[in-house]
Amino acid sequence: MDTKKSAFPAAGKLAALWNRDIDEDLICVDIHQETHDVKTFTFASPEGKRFAFWAGQYFLFDLDIGGEPESRCYSISSSPCRAQAFSVTVKRVAGGRISTWLHDNLAVNSRLKANGPLGHFIRPAAKKYLLLSGGSGITPVMSMVRELADTCEPVDVIFLHAARTPKDLVFREELSGLASRMKGLRLQFLPESVSGEPQWSGLTGRLSGDYMRLAVPDIAERVVLCCGPAPFMAAARAITADLGVPPSNYIEESFDAAVIDDIDLPVAEEAKTRTFQVEFSKQSRKIEVSGEQTVLACAKKSGVKLPSSCSNGVCGTCKSKLLSGTVDMNHNGGIRQREIDAGLFLPCCSKPLSDLVIDR
Ligand code: FES
Repeated sequence: MDTKKSAFPAAGKLAALWNRDIDEDLICVDIHQETHDVKTFTFASPEGKRFAFWAGQYFLFDLDIGGEPESRCYSISSSPCRAQAFSVTVKRVAGGRISTWLHDNLAVNSRLKANGPLGHFIRPAAKKYLLLSGGSGITPVMSMVRELADTCEPVDVIFLHAARTPKDLVFREELSGLASRMKGLRLQFLPESVSGEPQWSGLTGRLSGDYMRLAVPDIAERVVLCCGPAPFMAAARAITADLGVPPSNYIEESFDAAVIDDIDLPVAEEAKTRTFQVEFSKQSRKIEVSGEQTVLACAKKSGVKLPSSCSNGVCGTCKSKLLSGTVDMNHNGGIRQREIDAGLFLPCCSKPLSDLVIDR
């Protein structure tokens, strides 16, 4: 008999729910190679807790890569109906420190820490949807489709997924299987080129107004949920608006798409007019930041390296240790209170109130 403690509770027992305010430890319970450069990692709670999340949400992973703390958010790709574990699906990005580390180092039984579920990319109630994804942006919409398959919700869904080539179409076989058994699901794959699969018989190319008119003739009646690289989402936003989708019916996952700009955060009056010295201790760099600028925006403009993604305090990617000084931080859930108490902050949504020294 195997006496090792399982991450899953015994059959018939309802485990406690994972609570993002107190829980952070995860154990990797499965790894699956999806395509030549995409893997799905499945995680459970070591205490066997269940996960409650909305399809479309993500987890922020805290990793230790060669002694350096790194954070990165990854959308959940599994169905929220399967509460014992959740999966994220990660593309190996050329030169990408975190995705490369996950692909090369994470193994079954590896442990790591994460904060979540987080995010507001959530499917509103509607009768007709267009799920639109580009590349690895498929992950949150895959969670939505898997949820619809699990719940048998009677909806009309067109799922349009674009990728570079047919061999880059993540979840291709599973989606084809779902489309053959879910009456309300129509599937459209759009590879940019047929490289590696010259026998591809479908349409190819980039997202365009002409293609959308053909593939989704009733697009103006649909709620559109879109996730992909920033240029893909910019094109989707413009095309859908042009084809009559009202802004209230167009929803996109934005943590990967934000631009580095100053956000208009409230800040103490006396700090607004002052300029502070901000030191990045590991890079031996000092820059001037006015009380009206976020630390991240100014660091980027000055060429200081800081990881970032959403730029609005949601994803936690820029989380850094503040060695000295005080900031006015206005985050949107990307950091926990106990992390703030431990001296961490989010440079993307923080303006200096004094000179700062940052452990970066
Ligand atoms: S970049 Fe997302 S929280 Fe700072």
